[in-house]
Amino acid sequence: MSDIVLDLQSLTRRFGPFTAVDALTFCVNAGEVFGLLGSNGAGKTTTIKMLTTLLPPTSGEALVAGFSVTTQAVDVRRAIGYVPQAVSVDGSLTGYENLLIFSKLYDVPRREQRSRIEEALEFMGLTAVGGRLVGQYSGGMVRRLEIAQSILHRPRVLFLDEPTVGLDPIARDAVWKHLIELRANYGTTLLFTTHYLEEADSLCDRIGIMHLGKIAAIGTCEQLKMSFGGHHSLDEVFVHYAGTALDSGGTLHDISAERETAERLG
Ligand SMILES: Nc1ncnc2c1ncn2[C@@H]1O[C@H](COP(=O)(O)OP(=O)(O)O)[C@@H](O)[C@H]1O
Ligand SMILES: [Mg+2]
Repeated sequence: MSDIVLDLQSLTRRFGPFTAVDALTFCVNAGEVFGLLGSNGAGKTTTIKMLTTLLPPTSGEALVAGFSVTTQAVDVRRAIGYVPQAVSVDGSLTGYENLLIFSKLYDVPRREQRSRIEEALEFMGLTAVGGRLVGQYSGGMVRRLEIAQSILHRPRVLFLDEPTVGLDPIARDAVWKHLIELRANYGTTLLFTTHYLEEADSLCDRIGIMHLGKIAAIGTCEQLKMSFGGHHSLDEVFVHYAGTALDSGGTLHDISAERETAERLG
């Protein structure tokens, strides 16, 4: 039997009368790369915020690395890394200095800090620029630094909210190359959200399509492509289950927030 690292049990979040995440129930296995797809407002970020203990569920439960997000939040936080949708590094510090702050935050033992930081820089292909101010980094380098920051304490599960939004295809490929190595070397489980269907198609072991707070479909890409008569593209699968093409929905607020993130990432 495979080792279950994420176990969502009717996980639900309401904002007033509005249900943003509606009774999500699914599991993710150790070492899996799991992609959560959905239009703007589908509930992806809210789901990640509950799994990372940043937002309490209204009802339901989730176990992350065996710990409850509602009663064992501290243990959950030690077991996870989180790369948020918004930029989370300080441009006025060097890459190394940003990582030093996080190694303290994550309680990396003092005498291991230097080697862990150097390892994380090396791992994300940033050794040569570790001493440079982050304000001078490209968008792709900033993203890779954020990932380096999130893996200093060697988490079992890494959550990434739209890790490649606003990056050009070459920078996106570089980010993914390093993430896939992370899984290969450390068996890190990855749960990420994305707008890019081709990314999900080529990288995920399984995907979940979120629509109006619910999981509309879940499975391997191949299973989903074969799930409603004949063989379909992932774009067609998305339209079938979410009722709309991927980038069409969303409120003006959501879209402008996303653009802002994209711009800041360069
Ligand atoms: N703090 C909040 N207060 C009220 N509504 C919220 C809040 N956060 C998210 N929402 C709403 O919940 C829905 C899901 O949002 P979100 O999880 O950010 O979606 P996604 O990440 O899939 O774009 C959206 O309709 C959003 O406006
Ligand atoms: Mg989001």
